[in-house]
Amino acid sequence: MALFVTGGAGFIGSNFVLDWLEQSDEPVVNLDKLTYAGNRENLAALAADPRHFFVQGDICDRALVDHLLATHRPRAIIHFAAESHVDRSIHGPAEFMRTNIDGTFTLLEAARSYWNSLKGVELRQFRFHHISTDEVYGSLQPDDPPFAENNSYQPNSPYAASKAASDHLVRAWYHTYGLPITISNCSNNYGPYHFPEKLIPLIIANALAGKPLPIYGDGQQVRDWLYVTDHCSAIRCILEAGQVGEVYNVGGWNEMPNIDIVNTIIKLLDELRPDPTGSYARLITHVTDRPGHDRRYAIDARKIERELGWRPAEIFETGIRKTVQWNLANQAWVEHVTSGEYRQWLDSNYGARL
Ligand code: NAD
Ligand code: DAU
Repeated sequence: MALFVTGGAGFIGSNFVLDWLEQSDEPVVNLDKLTYAGNRENLAALAADPRHFFVQGDICDRALVDHLLATHRPRAIIHFAAESHVDRSIHGPAEFMRTNIDGTFTLLEAARSYWNSLKGVELRQFRFHHISTDEVYGSLQPDDPPFAENNSYQPNSPYAASKAASDHLVRAWYHTYGLPITISNCSNNYGPYHFPEKLIPLIIANALAGKPLPIYGDGQQVRDWLYVTDHCSAIRCILEAGQVGEVYNVGGWNEMPNIDIVNTIIKLLDELRPDPTGSYARLITHVTDRPGHDRRYAIDARKIERELGWRPAEIFETGIRKTVQWNLANQAWVEHVTSGEYRQWLDSNYGARL
């Protein structure tokens, strides 16, 4: 038996693979294109581990996916691979449509054909788990209840629209072909190996470099934050006991405005790596807002708790401290991933804003 993971060299995917192989001897086949966001260094601990089979390739490559499924005969596919950054989707949406929609379609068709070839226990056990986001539900007003699984879809960014489209495809492959799928819609993750284009690792990296800490608009946008290993444990629960055809919302019960997140990081850095010239707070810079910026996300994670017994183990105070400490201890990793392409991205996203 094996798991087939897509996007397992990215932030959440690599945390999942590392976590999985710490707890299980079931091998993992890891298909990742290694875009700017994918990094083999995340998986360095598995370099000599025969249970990890890494393949650099594209989920849009049907022949490759067919070959890998036929060769490794996984009991489940866990589909992380995606273009994942909202700002990049605003600057260049095409790759989001290709990977998130066409890629998911290709994977579903390959999975359907492989699943149709299975018999007996292999057929009964097989699962396709799709990793999605709370962004598909749109934006909440301050007093709205958090997103439940039956909320309507109102995606607002090209990224969110492409993820919404992929969720609809996965749902349709279940209803039409009976493919045994599950879907999870998760809130903002943070933790080790988080690529420094996203808010938390960007603020840590910029502060340490003495650069401005860019706050979009008034900084009062609210997100729900979940430590990444809690997302991994939720996926393991769904894989183990999730009901075929069901959607599970996953969140940290931890809504916070962006400016509070930034101030928390500043406080931790002032304590752990004080700057002789004064608090990092001096670097806070309000910049032009993200177009179409969603004001608030919040997740109602009661279904997964009620039905599968999952709750996050980490609280924000401890999770963010670990995250800052991880970044301080892994500056070489940060330097390696912030390549020429990354610097170009900073220029195109922040150049006009700052
Ligand atoms: P990420 O951008 O860090 O990693 C994505 C990975 O997918 C990279 O390793 C990349 O190389 C790979 N990839 C991209 N295109 C590919 C292709 N065509 N073929 C094969 N591999 C490809 O993303 P992440 O933050 O780890 O997110 C993983 C998944 O979780 C995504 O589906 C995302 O929508 C979802 N999600 C993310 C968050 C979050 O806070 N980061 C929250 C909820 C859901
Ligand atoms: O909600 C789940 C989603 O969370 C995932 O589906 C996405 O893949 C993931 O990237 C994340 O999306 P966000 O847009 O919420 O994350 P990001 O870290 O880009 O931004 C978090 C908030 O911080 C958001 O309100 C925008 C704001 N922000 C972001 C950056 C990069 C800033 O104020 N300044 C910045 O420089």
